[in-house]
Amino acid sequence: MDNTSQILERSAEAFTGKRVLLVNPVVDSLCSTLSADWYLWTWDFAVLRGLAASLDSDHLAFSHLCPAYSDLDAAILVMPKAIERAEYALAQIAPLLAMGTPLYLVGEKKGGITRAERLLEGYGARPEKLDSARHCQLWRVQLDRQAPAFDLGAWARRVRVELPDQTVEMVTLPGVFSHGRLDEGSELLLEETASLPRGKALDFGCGAGVLATALARRNPDTRFDLVDVDALALYCAQETLRLNAVDAEVYPSDGLSDVHGRFAAVVSNPPFHTGIRHDTSVAEGFLNQVTRNLLPKGELRIVANGFLKYPALIESHIGPCQVLRETNRFKVYSAVAPG
Ligand SMILES: C[S@@+](CC[C@H](N)C(=O)[O-])C[C@H]1O[C@@H](n2cnc3c(N)ncnc32)[C@H](O)[C@@H]1O
Repeated sequence: MDNTSQILERSAEAFTGKRVLLVNPVVDSLCSTLSADWYLWTWDFAVLRGLAASLDSDHLAFSHLCPAYSDLDAAILVMPKAIERAEYALAQIAPLLAMGTPLYLVGEKKGGITRAERLLEGYGARPEKLDSARHCQLWRVQLDRQAPAFDLGAWARRVRVELPDQTVEMVTLPGVFSHGRLDEGSELLLEETASLPRGKALDFGCGAGVLATALARRNPDTRFDLVDVDALALYCAQETLRLNAVDAEVYPSDGLSDVHGRFAAVVSNPPFHTGIRHDTSVAEGFLNQVTRNLLPKGELRIVANGFLKYPALIESHIGPCQVLRETNRFKVYSAVAPG
């Protein structure tokens, strides 16, 4: 089991037989090992896929919003990577809890749990550290005030992105990639003015949907599908498309798991995590598999950090890899599938 689940198991008496909301769960056996009446909320489609076989849909939700679960005896938030995502989740969890209900926060020390006290203070006096083990901490606060109802509109930000040929109104939520501004790599990709092949196009890892929105307006004969693993990104992408009057399909996918059919173009600023080490596994999985979703003569157009070794992968799976644009940090690559 994950370290966060192991530390929760050490406090099993607090949850056994209770109706417990678990937010941002990891894929492991916690819910079958610890016998509570579990209600789970995840925004990660990979987690939904990983847990769907062990929990029915009344007990497991994938959404940008927490379902209105009632009569909860406790709630646990597994600390998300982005602190602002923790704030967003807590603001939804707290109004579901009656006064006096315990609210727990669990997470790895290197994953920001040391900020638990500050995060929980807004919901009750004196948050307590209950346990510390396996590089994790478990914190609890007892709700001593009724939290205000959650207002999604107050968390969503509208950002105006000025491009040379158009203005895109982008909607973002906490923890959605480049919250509040256009990413430098995405900007470089959008500087490329060569048209996309007409037909269906895919925006892989769409985030707030800025690439598909701008490209769809520039290429009126292209209709986009947008996919992302993150439910908040999918909501933002839908809102961005709506605000800019672009018609497109938006759906969840973990990598290309739920992408079916072939596309005349696939565009992406693929995920790349910086941290203790670079994680390019999702981007590499995408490049290894994308050929099966490209039509003959279909174009792959991506932007990535220039030092990443993607051209070799692109050439081995698709064909000659051309550099369309570059700065000292990013490169826009294009490759066309054999005809
Ligand atoms: C670098 S961001 C690009 C976002 C957006 N296209 C833009 O240009 O602003 C990469 C996106 O990939 C998504 N992502 C991460 N892992 C994924 C996966 N396994 N499957 C699909 N999308 C994923 C992230 O949620 C994020 O929105």
